[in-house]
Amino acid sequence: MTTPKITPLYEDVTFHGPLSEERAARLIRGLGPLDGKHVLDLGCGWAELLLRTLEAAPTATGTGVDRNAVDIAHAQANADARGLTARVRLHAADVQQWQPEQGYDVVIVNGATQVWGGDPLQHTENALKAARALLNPQGMFLLGEGFWEREPTAEQLEAMPVPRDQYRSLAGLVDFAHEHGYRLVAAEQASLDEWDVFENAHGLAWERWLRDNPDSEHADDIRAKADRQRTYRLHGWRATMGLAYLTLQAP
Ligand SMILES: C[S@@+](CC[C@H](N)C(=O)[O-])C[C@H]1O[C@@H](n2cnc3c(N)ncnc32)[C@H](O)[C@@H]1O
Repeated sequence: MTTPKITPLYEDVTFHGPLSEERAARLIRGLGPLDGKHVLDLGCGWAELLLRTLEAAPTATGTGVDRNAVDIAHAQANADARGLTARVRLHAADVQQWQPEQGYDVVIVNGATQVWGGDPLQHTENALKAARALLNPQGMFLLGEGFWEREPTAEQLEAMPVPRDQYRSLAGLVDFAHEHGYRLVAAEQASLDEWDVFENAHGLAWERWLRDNPDSEHADDIRAKADRQRTYRLHGWRATMGLAYLTLQAP
């Protein structure tokens, strides 16, 4: 059986998440001053946020870790093309196996608190603890994490693979960060437009493939994936599960 060649998500979106270029630039500014700082991005995907952070601060250096080797290869090609080779190290590795090389001035975990594995109800706490252990004193933590914009109904919870207690309200998430020793510097959240742009792109590669390969032996599988994702989104999380961007200062 051949493997279907689905266009990688990075061909259709800038970031692997509901994030506009404008918001990304503002979040990066909020991490500054970044001169001479070392930035770590865990679960960095194709590392667009990390590369833009380094572009914004010509003396900053960075490390990105993601277990998706295709995304890391794309990140490396982009880093090379943008003259960042000497300032960034990109590792195709599982965060649970990866060994930190130093303390970090900035840690980014954007839409990736799952990288420490285990019980989804512990993901946020795992990230808060791990980032604090990795950060130098007074370091900055950019956390992109889910929260409930409104209480999900029983029908919505039934339609999506997200346990109710995985996430908090926005206030609850910020309080939780404070309980772990951080102080909130800034909080914002993905807009519905950012979500829609991202979710539409997510389904696009599958729909394009189905249009171009209607008789493939993989068509039923790919259609089922696209249908599942659409159900999660439209019967599940749309306008109910948010993504918060918290800029947090470590003690
Ligand atoms: C929603 S994406 C976010 C990517 C990136 N932070 C961004 O904002 O574009 C989550 C990423 O976590 C990565 N990931 C999940 N589990 C991981 C693990 N145990 N170790 C390393 N990467 C992991 C996935 O490969 C994926 O790229």
